[in-house]
Amino acid sequence: MRNIIVFFIIITQSISQDVGTLLLTKLNNIQYQCTDPGCSSSTTTLALNLRACEIACLVNINCRTLTFDQSNNQCELFTDIPNQYGSLISQTDFITLTVIDNRKLSSPMTISTTASAPTTAPLSSTTTTAAAIRVWSATDPMNTMRNYHTASTLTNGKVLVTGGYNGGVLNSAELYDPSTGTWTTINAMSTFRKFHTATMLTNGNILISGGNDGNGFLTSAELYNSSSGTWTTTGDMEIVRGAHIAVMLTNGKVLVSGGDSGNGFLNNAALYDPSTGIWTAVSPMNAERVSHVACILTNNNVFVAGGYDYVSLASTEIYNPATDIWTNTANMNFARQTATISVLSNGKILVAGGDDSGSLTTAELYDPLYDTWTVTGSMNCARSGHAASVLPNGNVLVTGGCDSSNAAEFYNPSTGNWTMTGDMTDIRYYHTISKLTNGTVLVAGGVSSSGSYLNSAELY
Ligand SMILES: *[C@@H]1O[C@H](CO)[C@@H](O)[C@H](O)[C@H]1NC(C)=O
Ligand SMILES: *[C@@H]1O[C@H](CO)[C@@H](O)[C@H](O)[C@H]1NC(C)=O
Ligand SMILES: *[C@@H]1O[C@H](CO)[C@@H](O)[C@H](O)[C@H]1NC(C)=O
Repeated sequence: MRNIIVFFIIITQSISQDVGTLLLTKLNNIQYQCTDPGCSSSTTTLALNLRACEIACLVNINCRTLTFDQSNNQCELFTDIPNQYGSLISQTDFITLTVIDNRKLSSPMTISTTASAPTTAPLSSTTTTAAAIRVWSATDPMNTMRNYHTASTLTNGKVLVTGGYNGGVLNSAELYDPSTGTWTTINAMSTFRKFHTATMLTNGNILISGGNDGNGFLTSAELYNSSSGTWTTTGDMEIVRGAHIAVMLTNGKVLVSGGDSGNGFLNNAALYDPSTGIWTAVSPMNAERVSHVACILTNNNVFVAGGYDYVSLASTEIYNPATDIWTNTANMNFARQTATISVLSNGKILVAGGDDSGSLTTAELYDPLYDTWTVTGSMNCARSGHAASVLPNGNVLVTGGCDSSNAAEFYNPSTGNWTMTGDMTDIRYYHTISKLTNGTVLVAGGVSSSGSYLNSAELY
């Protein structure tokens, strides 16, 4: 067990009365998980921080082990169940504390402690940085209310937001500076756009493609240079498209697929070459799709799932750039459009929520190695027009798209379960989610359930 930092903590706390002292072994980036059916956490609560979790253990006479998830402030306490077996697994953001006498830690669980006389340093156990604790907090609002916009984290750490709609289509752009928490309106795009895409190129430019300017769908594309702060037009796409998907290949080219032409949904696909600024049509998809999801696979193929073609679609397909061939792959268990897609660290692909004549709670996992879909835990809320981001600890955060709650929730790939977070400031649909360079998530804009356009932004 590399990565384990073992040291001793003494908690003495007089909350109501003097409840005593515990000697704890602290394991950073380690999660305690039950492996025996008789073992379960006695309590799972939200705790403000690790110290609050330690105190919860301290006041619980039966608590012998706690595991605290800093990504969402979940504090799990484990009691002195006879023969409680568990395992310690390497998991970023988790801290596990065990009572030093190891009464709970029957074999086969082993941990390495040198349970000799601990140093008697008075408690400063919350040496974990407060910044690592995830809660929702409002940051400055954008200068412009918008939904159907794009957001891209630039190489300088700022977040570029472009276009969108707030009753009229927008060409405005603004930058969020995480170091000040403020938004600055910058040069506008040359074209008004909603339902467009934004892709970070390998040279640091942001490619904006297509969309709709309020009068019709667009062929045009433009580039934002973040060092000069300027917009330049680049080659036009070969056809108009909006509500399409753009995915960057490992060779730096950008594949766009499907979308709406205003005159039917598209199966057409095209590749943008950043070195020439030229778009070239490639083989069309097997199905017409709008509001679908896509991601790059480790073998450089592009995986496309679901969407809408007058009905929501369960079909999926894979594009091989080397052969220019689209191949149908296994159908999802549920047809869905406006879902989210997330590539997990284990290589599986999570598709969650979306719409099929109503918002969906269901989520399913695609295994690219076996071309199979497996239904996994359902979200607590039906979500469509939501957004998703993979957190540094491998959990998947989904935000918005739920009309009964402004709580977000996250998926834990190791349990297949979803857990609600604290509330966000707003119920939002068609907002953006961006990962800041330090792992914090920025959520911006969208539209409320009552149809108000939002400029609010918040951090998790
Ligand atoms: C990351 O950046 C955000 C925005 O500046 C800040 O609020 C947060 O505290 C930072 N988190 C860490 C772990 O430094
Ligand atoms: C961005 O602009 C700067 C300054 O004009 C220029 O030196 C640089 O080459 C541009 N970058 C790209 C990727 O076009
Ligand atoms: C997932 O949640 C269900 C329902 O709350 C629960 O019964 C199950 O034990 C959980 N699974 C894991 C692996 O935590």
